Amino acid sequence: MLGNFGYHNPTKLYFGEDSLGYLKDELKNYGENVLLVYGGGSIKKSGLYDDIAAILKDCKKNVAEVPGVMPNPTVEKLNEGIEIARKNRSEFILAVGGGSVCDYSKALSVSIHCNDDPWQKYYIRFEEPECEIVPVGCVLTMAGTGSEMNGGAVITNHESKLKIGHVFGDDVMPKFSILNPLYTMTLPKYQMIAGIYDIFNHICEQYFSGEDDNTSDYISEGLMKSLIHSSGIAVSDPQNYEARSNIMWTATWALNTLIAQGKSTDWMVHMLGQAVGAYTDATHGMTLAAVSLPYYRHIMPYGLKKFARFATEVWGISKDGKSDKQLADEGLLAMEKWMKEIGLVMNITDLGVTNGMIEGIADATLILDGGYKVLDREEIIGILRSSMK
Ligand code: NZQ
Ligand code: ZN
Repeated sequence: MLGNFGYHNPTKLYFGEDSLGYLKDELKNYGENVLLVYGGGSIKKSGLYDDIAAILKDCKKNVAEVPGVMPNPTVEKLNEGIEIARKNRSEFILAVGGGSVCDYSKALSVSIHCNDDPWQKYYIRFEEPECEIVPVGCVLTMAGTGSEMNGGAVITNHESKLKIGHVFGDDVMPKFSILNPLYTMTLPKYQMIAGIYDIFNHICEQYFSGEDDNTSDYISEGLMKSLIHSSGIAVSDPQNYEARSNIMWTATWALNTLIAQGKSTDWMVHMLGQAVGAYTDATHGMTLAAVSLPYYRHIMPYGLKKFARFATEVWGISKDGKSDKQLADEGLLAMEKWMKEIGLVMNITDLGVTNGMIEGIADATLILDGGYKVLDREEIIGILRSSMK
């Protein structure tokens, strides 16, 4: 564990089948004017909306709503929410949904009292909030992003073809999150699988960086093994509570700042995936899956030891006198086999990318420097081309 850091995560978690019971107690801590934020209707279909509405009524809250938060929430939707929140003097935001609803609510929380243009301030200039921040609580319905216990808020701007995440600090992270694995049971299989890969890739993005002996890597290996195990069960038996509950808990710990400690962290698969998302509006986890193997095969020579360790520790491949290169290749082959088995989209063509988009996607890819190799534009284009069918 090289380096110096302070560690604190302010989000309180309530986990399990009965966890919604804690909402009433939590709501007592916040103002009367509640803004209920949700997606395109899954919570109405499942009955969760009615349960939440009854609790809010019981707590005598004045409720305003922002319905219809879309997957990959847009800047226009953010502006719409700001107006509703201002008009209703919202004092607390209750996000009920997946990562998009949670992210959106956090973006809203720093924008309601902001005098500047939030897109320019937070997503172009990457400034931190100076205004009053409206507290957020989450009831999560989809496992994947970790948004329930982190400061991330990704917003898409279709006009400028950019999808950008701002990772805000402790005071923007949800005050509490309710994680009931039963709520994830109504997810379409495509979304469940996309979420599983999102979790896996969050762990990879942190694991594939640094060369020191680091506790975070051992935790990451455990999380990956649990996820691989439970994903197989969940794909063949989606109603399996044990598997779905493990997946939900793993998602939270994969991206709640824990396994980033002592790591430089990579995040280039996410930068590539987000740029693909800006052009196609494709499902987040699938954009990551579609670019991952070309990316990892490209950087593998620069982080060979870690890729060899990934093969033996995560995929159980025996060393058997093999070279690091052989082990690393076998590890990525095992990962590819698993990805195909669970049904991920393995190329960006199937997500709607055409040859004519490649240059623009490369321009929209932010280049970060925490991984084993800092890419240049030509390498990004090469990886994108190798990710086509
Ligand atoms: O809108 P509704 O009707 O609720 O339907 C949603 C949506 O269509 C549906 N869904 C969610 N829970 C459901 C359900 N359908 C049936 N039953 C349920 N229980 O699933 C669809 C996808 O939901 P969404 O919230 O978009 O998915 P996800 O959780 O993957 O969130 C994706 C967003 O999070 C960002 C992504 O970029 C993307 O914008 N990310 C946020 C991160 C963070 N905060 O740290 C990190 C991630 O890497 C990611 O970038
Ligand atoms: Zn992600």
